[in-house]
Amino acid sequence: MAAPKVLVVDDDPNVQRILLATLKQEGYEVHVASDGEEGVEKATALTPDLILMDVAMPKLDGYAATALVRAAEPTGRRVPIIMLTAEADVEQRVRGLRAGADDDIVKPFHPLELIARIKALLSRSGAAPVVRATRGEGPLGKLCCFYGAKGGVGTTTLVINTAIALSQRLKRSVSLIDANLQFGDMRVFLDLGLDTASIVNAITKPDLDSDLLRKLVVRHSSGVDLLLAPPNPESADIVAERQRTDPNALSNLLGLMRQQYDYTLVDMARTLDDFNLHLFDESDLIFLVVTADLSSLKNVRSVLGTMDSLRYERSKTLLVLNRSNAFTGINVANAESALGRKIDFEIINEYRGAIDALNSGAPFMANRPDGPLGQSVTAFARQLDAILIASAVSIPSGTAVRGNPALTSQ
Ligand SMILES: Nc1ncnc2c1ncn2[C@@H]1O[C@H](COP(=O)(O)OP(=O)(O)O)[C@@H](O)[C@H]1O
Ligand SMILES: [Mg+2]
Repeated sequence: MAAPKVLVVDDDPNVQRILLATLKQEGYEVHVASDGEEGVEKATALTPDLILMDVAMPKLDGYAATALVRAAEPTGRRVPIIMLTAEADVEQRVRGLRAGADDDIVKPFHPLELIARIKALLSRSGAAPVVRATRGEGPLGKLCCFYGAKGGVGTTTLVINTAIALSQRLKRSVSLIDANLQFGDMRVFLDLGLDTASIVNAITKPDLDSDLLRKLVVRHSSGVDLLLAPPNPESADIVAERQRTDPNALSNLLGLMRQQYDYTLVDMARTLDDFNLHLFDESDLIFLVVTADLSSLKNVRSVLGTMDSLRYERSKTLLVLNRSNAFTGINVANAESALGRKIDFEIINEYRGAIDALNSGAPFMANRPDGPLGQSVTAFARQLDAILIASAVSIPSGTAVRGNPALTSQ
């Protein structure tokens, strides 16, 4: 069954980005128009199953655009239209409904509320329901980003070892992207040479498909497929520039990864730039890695603030306290009260295990999976897997995440 087509008509690039990611994640085919005129054109040309229509837009406002869409419809067809209004003003709502809208939602809205309204309207209009992937029907196709509050908190260590745990212990198919474009150090961690293909090759190929992508990933002995960072900082610009000029190139790459693997994990750099926001948008879950020290807590607080202002669903971001039992004078309860949020997971501190692994180029999850650090990361990987499998079978992704019990150190 084809995915229902949703047309988003909104001039605000932030709203476009968030709606695009939310709707895609729910399995809809999404098209975007940036003003009222373009909205009317695309409504006619694409015959969407549903339209989300902003009110205040250049060229033609949402009321006029809605009226024109209605006027152009052949008899018997009536595409459901949801107005995105700026305020809960009764007069505005009435105007929208008069122009021919079926429903309205006030900005800022919660993505889950919007999805619920969309589903209600689509089921009334008889469009196909969204079928979500469940286990047993091909790869799970989940994307998880790992973002460190500051350098050295253990993001790369965590993402590599989690990938290996998912692959070896949970028998999932796993890929790992080193998206630390300038200073990706996965080659060092995994003892690989500089002569391997990288994300530069993948993102610059205009005709990238699964066959080509399979040739660009490097299979690690643990079974994890790696898409490495550019071999030098200069080439990082090529990737960032490509994403800027053609955001679809990155979306296409991530989409292909999702098709082939149960999990694609991404190690990120710390800049909050367009490239990284794009990764956040497309991911199912974002793991913020922190340690219990003042500067890491301060940074993560400001990142959480930015995510709030970009209106990311709070349950999409999970906090991982690394080296949780290291003595820093700040305990879990202190950290939680400083952040005003629950710590979702804890990974124990084991200096020796981590450093031996780094020096030998063999991750502890490959060499000593049953050591204390290996067990701690395996427990984390199991939780991650349980959350994402649950979100693939239940409808709104992310709801299973809330109130997730924190892992206790072992
Ligand atoms: N749980 C841990 N216990 C002990 N040492 C750790 C742990 N996690 C990471 N480390 C060490 O911390 C250092 C920084 O880790 P790294 O993964 O490079 O951090 P980041 O990617 O956030 O910069 C490395 O020396 C690593 O071995
Ligand atoms: Mg790193």
